[in-house]
Amino acid sequence: MGPWPLDPRGPLAESISVVYWILFACAVVVLAIVVGALTYSGIKFRDRPGRVAQQIHGSNSLEVVWTVVPTLMVISFTVLSWNRLNFINDVNSNVAMTVKVEGRQWAWGFTYPDQAMFKLPDGTLLQSGEQLDIPVGEKIKLELTAKDVIHSFWVPNLGGKKDAVPGHTTTMWIQADQPGTYKGQCFEFCGDGHADMLITVVAHPQAEYAAWAKTAVEDAARATSPETKAGHDAFLAGPCAGCHTVKGTTAAGKVGPELTHIASKPNIAGVLSPVNQENLTKWIHNAPSFKPGTLMPKFDGVLPDQQIDQIVQWLLTLK
Ligand code: CUA
Repeated sequence: MGPWPLDPRGPLAESISVVYWILFACAVVVLAIVVGALTYSGIKFRDRPGRVAQQIHGSNSLEVVWTVVPTLMVISFTVLSWNRLNFINDVNSNVAMTVKVEGRQWAWGFTYPDQAMFKLPDGTLLQSGEQLDIPVGEKIKLELTAKDVIHSFWVPNLGGKKDAVPGHTTTMWIQADQPGTYKGQCFEFCGDGHADMLITVVAHPQAEYAAWAKTAVEDAARATSPETKAGHDAFLAGPCAGCHTVKGTTAAGKVGPELTHIASKPNIAGVLSPVNQENLTKWIHNAPSFKPGTLMPKFDGVLPDQQIDQIVQWLLTLK
């Protein structure tokens, strides 16, 4: 993706880049006239032996020109910007959904709107950190605030930046015209971790957005369910931790592959794909039947089925 003035990807970024290019073109013209006149005069009227400078006093027509022209330019820029600002600041009309954004040292947190599709079984709303997923072609209102110091939300290819201020709510909107991944960054110096305070906005085709939300809600529900906790405990207490490492836990076995991000892997041990509940369950029950010679023993009948289910639920949260 190119720099935003060359590659705006939504109506907000487009409207800002139009103003940017008009101002830039006018500035280039003014620069050319000023530098051109300066260079021309410097050469034409330079000091030469025997030459006496002509003495002149004022010029009404020049005074009028360089007063009226800049005045007209500034007035047109004001009208143009005002007109665009009305569009940019209109955060409320035709909004498809409103996402709450919180900046804190040093991460962004997003809370999805109070709609059925974002509800978890425990009644809370879907939340995410760093990455915001939106549908393409829809106006998304953002309500920004901050926990500690002032941060600033900016995804250049989607639009202008807005400060996130503690104890105060500011609003802006973004819209992506095409599916894709848009990178952004905190734009207000907020301490040590400022440079790492990144934002990723992923725009999904409208038809796929509901499916994305369903998966995200399921993942979030799984990560907080009692089964997950039971699975975590069973994994660490049982034979699994003797062979496998999961970073962030006490499981540090070196015999088998590391499972820290097993749920994001394309397959299980290179033989079972995708990594889902069904395949993980089959694998744990009887790994040697899928991969003869594997060091992973058969756990069918060794661990109770319920415990295997719980372990699988927990493994699916390791992304
Ligand atoms: Cu947050 Cu800079």
